[in-house]
Amino acid sequence: MPRTQILGTGSYAPARVVTNQDLEQLVDTSDAWIRERTGIQERRQAAPDEATSDLAVQASRQALEMAGVAPEDVDLIVVGTVTADMPMPSCAALVQAKLGARKAFAFDVSAACAGALYALSVADQFVRTGQVKRALVVGADVLSRAVDWTDRNTCVLFGDGAGALVLGAGSDSEEDASSAGGPENVAPRGILSTHLRTDGTLADILCIPAGGSRTPVTSDNVDANLHKLKMNGKEVFRFAVRSLVESTQTSLGAHGMTPGQVDHVIAHQANLRILEAVLERLEIPREKCWLNLHKYGNTSSASLPMSLDEAWRAGRIKRGDVIAMMAIGAGMAWGSAVVRW
Ligand code: ACO
Repeated sequence: MPRTQILGTGSYAPARVVTNQDLEQLVDTSDAWIRERTGIQERRQAAPDEATSDLAVQASRQALEMAGVAPEDVDLIVVGTVTADMPMPSCAALVQAKLGARKAFAFDVSAACAGALYALSVADQFVRTGQVKRALVVGADVLSRAVDWTDRNTCVLFGDGAGALVLGAGSDSEEDASSAGGPENVAPRGILSTHLRTDGTLADILCIPAGGSRTPVTSDNVDANLHKLKMNGKEVFRFAVRSLVESTQTSLGAHGMTPGQVDHVIAHQANLRILEAVLERLEIPREKCWLNLHKYGNTSSASLPMSLDEAWRAGRIKRGDVIAMMAIGAGMAWGSAVVRW
């Protein structure tokens, strides 16, 4: 079965820049603390009239343009987000309408900061089985609307953004050549595999308690700030490092690869210290990991596709390179993917 190819990438960050110095005016924090503990220097914030689908559409248009795919030729749209424009319909349905992707069926996946990786995995299955030819995968979040701007433990971490990937089926001839071992001994290209995990027993270490069916948004709940993001930072940190390392080892091992064979790491940008700890344990040099959290902060589901888009457009990734992708978010939901470009 031909492997799914990534045909185009795109990203969008809102124009408004919020620096660490700006946050010093809001909460009891300092530029030095934020840089040292997280690596973040600034983040972007959506304009009051911008919602998640608006960011998603900007990134999607770029990805479609790079892929040379018209919106009406897209069969499937999967959006990873936890900050859809409204509880229903899905953000993906709004993106479909705005793009004019008339033929596409569209839905959201909820895996927080792992949302784009989950969306990629879902879309990959549809493309590989031949059920769809062209899929648009988006990671987009406007977490600035969900964070508590009085809580210094969380408000300094997040930013708004969107990233998009266009997927399509690979060619049979390339796959045949590789499985036959020659004549050029071509290694298969595309998404080699994705590996997803969830541990819902950890739901309370990172959550937005109110706004769903358990705790609806009432004035009492809003007064108690229950509609805002809550996080146990130390627990998230510990769990993130362990699970990203294990997941990446498993993904690479499934293809007989070791971390030493990875050319690039494209990772969810949660925190520089998390990424450094993961890279150190995997013995992957830091230069192989694309980093942009200093300028965007943690953009949740957007950060992985935004990073891939930046790295690709910067000319960093060459044909045949092995990319290890990894992401983790609330759930806890996490995973990894191995892609040969
Ligand atoms: N400015 C100044 N001081 C602060 C700030 C701040 N913004 N935030 C917390 N502090 C204080 C705390 O109140 C605490 O003070 P105290 O000792 O007087 O109580 C002190 O700094 C140390 O707090 P810790 O929680 O021990 O700080 P830590 O070194 O663990 O860093 C951090 C906190 C950055 C949140 C870290 O735990 C972390 O990175 N966790 C991972 C969280 C994450 O990445 N979440 C993103 C969402 S999930 C994901 O994307 C995977």
